[in-house]
Amino acid sequence: MKLLVTGGAGFIGSNYIHYILAEDPEAQVVNFDALTYAGNLENLAGIDKDPRYTFIKGDITKPNAVAAALEAHQVDAVVHFAAESHVDRSLHVGTRTFILTNVLGTQNLLDACRAHKVARFVHVSTDEVYGSLGPEGRFTEASPIQPNNPYAATKAASDFMVRAACHSHGLDAVITRCSNNFGPYQFPEKLIPLMIANALEDKPLPVYGDGCQVRDWIYVEDHCRGVDAVLRKGKTGEIYNIGGSHDVPNLDVVRRILAILQKPESLIKYVKDRPGHDRRYAIDASKIERELGWQPRLDFDTALRKTVAWYLEHRTWWERIRSGEYRKYYAAMYGNR
Ligand code: NAD
Ligand code: DAU
Repeated sequence: MKLLVTGGAGFIGSNYIHYILAEDPEAQVVNFDALTYAGNLENLAGIDKDPRYTFIKGDITKPNAVAAALEAHQVDAVVHFAAESHVDRSLHVGTRTFILTNVLGTQNLLDACRAHKVARFVHVSTDEVYGSLGPEGRFTEASPIQPNNPYAATKAASDFMVRAACHSHGLDAVITRCSNNFGPYQFPEKLIPLMIANALEDKPLPVYGDGCQVRDWIYVEDHCRGVDAVLRKGKTGEIYNIGGSHDVPNLDVVRRILAILQKPESLIKYVKDRPGHDRRYAIDASKIERELGWQPRLDFDTALRKTVAWYLEHRTWWERIRSGEYRKYYAAMYGNR
């Protein structure tokens, strides 16, 4: 099976490429990534020597670039991870790139897949499209779409464009909606890697508001196995929730990280809350479990320990990101976006 993976230099995309090349000897991967601030080819160190792997520096907002990639490579499926993914950036830096990449970029891919008769399109979406839960209940695939921040709104819009391409034009498309991922290669702007890195440098750990917002955490490799199950066995036009069934307040996560690293809780610093901060996410993943036989393999505590160990062992990886060093290398090699 030959796949075009978009956003394969990011956190989940790179974990997916590592996973698929290790698991499936027949797999070939074309990684199509614009190398934005979140894209880092160091996430794929070693993979670049695998003859089954090709990298294209390309931007999904450019229809010609997408078409050229699909002309050059006859792929069996597109697995679409590329996105602007950080909620805080969508609130504080600007929404334009979110609309361009997440909505227009997804539409460009859908159009190109139709034109090149790509057999399957897997759209990697998020539980954020459902908005926020009260103290009870979990999101199912039938929950209303009620995005509350600009990032989530653009992901919801892209889900609807995928649905429309499938319904109106018969494109074979499937959608996944996963909860909060963590693991190796996660950009240290997101909660878990930020807290690990700050704790290791004895810097304050910024907890938004009261820290009682709940997220449902899943180890990234479990998400990748879920995406792969949907790629291979998912039913056309269907949506599959993926989640770790470990929904806990942010403060619990932060305290656990400090305990693993044997750092004091006095490092916790309560800061101004995120505007419109969603209070609680929790996923009902029973559909993918029942229909595709998927289940998460790693429990939260084991996965968190493994993740902390990875950030300890790969200090240079995140230090180069925090210092900006990683961008200088790519700017020289590929130019800036
Ligand atoms: P990330 O920000 O780490 O990586 C995004 C990647 O997309 C980067 O490599 C970046 O260079 C690339 N990219 C961005 N704009 C592009 C463009 N215009 N053209 C081509 N490439 C572009 O993101 P992530 O956390 O790995 O998330 C991957 C996907 O999974 C996203 O679609 C996100 O919405 C979804 N998701 C993420 C989570 C999570 O917890 N991180 C949970 C559920 C779903
Ligand atoms: O639920 C899936 C989503 O999870 C994905 O679609 C997004 O791409 C991904 O970024 C993530 O969104 P969140 O906003 O939930 O993740 P983040 O790591 O930014 O924040 C997790 C929680 O921690 C959230 O309640 C905000 C809080 N937080 C975050 C940061 C960065 C803090 O309290 N302090 C922080 O410094």
